[in-house]
Amino acid sequence: MEKIEKIKQAYFRLAEEVNNSEQLEQLRIEFLGRKGRVTEAFAMIKDVAPDIRPKFGAGLNQLKKELEQHFKKLKEEVEGQAADQKAPDVTMPGRPVFAGNRHPLLKIADEIKNIFHSFGFTIEDGPEIETDYYNFEALNIPKSHPARAMQDTLYISGDVVLRTHTSPVQIRVMEERKPPIRMIAPGRVYRRDTPDATHSPFFHQVEGLVVGESVTFADLKGVIQAFAHRMFGKDARVRFRPSFFPFTEPSAEYDVWFNGRWMEISGAGMVHPNVFRSVGIDPEKYSGYAFGMGIDRVAMLKYDIRDIRLFFENDVRFLRQF
Ligand code: DAH
Repeated sequence: MEKIEKIKQAYFRLAEEVNNSEQLEQLRIEFLGRKGRVTEAFAMIKDVAPDIRPKFGAGLNQLKKELEQHFKKLKEEVEGQAADQKAPDVTMPGRPVFAGNRHPLLKIADEIKNIFHSFGFTIEDGPEIETDYYNFEALNIPKSHPARAMQDTLYISGDVVLRTHTSPVQIRVMEERKPPIRMIAPGRVYRRDTPDATHSPFFHQVEGLVVGESVTFADLKGVIQAFAHRMFGKDARVRFRPSFFPFTEPSAEYDVWFNGRWMEISGAGMVHPNVFRSVGIDPEKYSGYAFGMGIDRVAMLKYDIRDIRLFFENDVRFLRQF
C-alpha cells in the first residue's frame, strides 16, 4: 500500500510541473507507459504475499484508474493551451482583402472631368431637384412647347421636377458669371423611362458650355474631336448629324466610332439667343456652344457594355472588372 501511495505522490508531483506536450508525454511514459511505474507495480502482484494480494490488486486498479482519469484531463488542458498559443500565428499567410474600386461610371466621369479640366473648363454642379424654370423655361422650352414631349419628366410637385438633363446648370452658371465661360457640369438626371438595355429612369450626363466673343461651331467640333481622341485613342472618329434642341441653333448630335461601332453620345449646338436673353447676356455680342454628353454612353462604348442596367445592379462580379 505504501508503494501505491508513493507512485501516486510521485505522479502528482510531476504532473504539477507539466507545461507542454513533451513533458506530458514523459509523464505518460514514466507512469502509464508499457514499462511505466504502474505497469511495473502490476508485475509485482505475483511476488506479494497471497493474503494481501487481492487488496494490493484492487489498490493498483484504483490507482491506475485515478491516474488515467487525471492524465486525460491534464492532456486536454495542455492541448487547449497549445491551441491558444497557436491562434495568433503571425507567420501564416494573410487572408486576401478586397479593397473595392471606383464604380465604372465614376471612373469615366473622372476621366471626362480630367480631360475637360486640362482644356481649361471649370467643373460646376447643380441641384438634381430643379424648378420647371431652370429645367425648361429658361432653356427656351415654354410650357406649351412640343419639345417637352421629348423628355418624360418626373414631377415632385407642380413646378418642381427631377432634372431631366444637366442643361439647367448652364442657366445657373450664366446667371452668376459673365463671359468668357468655359464649364462642364457632370451629374445624375432622371426621366420617366422603363428600364431596358438602353434606358434607365436615371442616368448621367455631363453638360458643356463655352461662351465668348467669337465662339463658333468649329470650336465645338475641335473640342469634341480632341476629347474623343483623349478618351478613346487616336483611332476614334467623331461624326456630327443635324438635330433639334430648343436651346441651340443650329443643333446637332454626334456619334463616336470606337472598337468597331458607332455610338451616339451627345446632343450639342450653338446656344440659342433666347437662352442668352433669359440670363441677360447680349446675343449680339456673345456666342457660345453647348453639349450634353451621356456619361453612361461613353462608358458603354469604352468598355463595350451592351446593357445600361449592369451599371446599376451592383453585381460585384460586374463591378470588380474595372
Ligand atoms: N439636354 C439635352 C438632352 O438631355 C442634351 C443637349 C443637347 C445638351 C444640346 C446641350 C445641347 O447642352 O446643346 O437631351
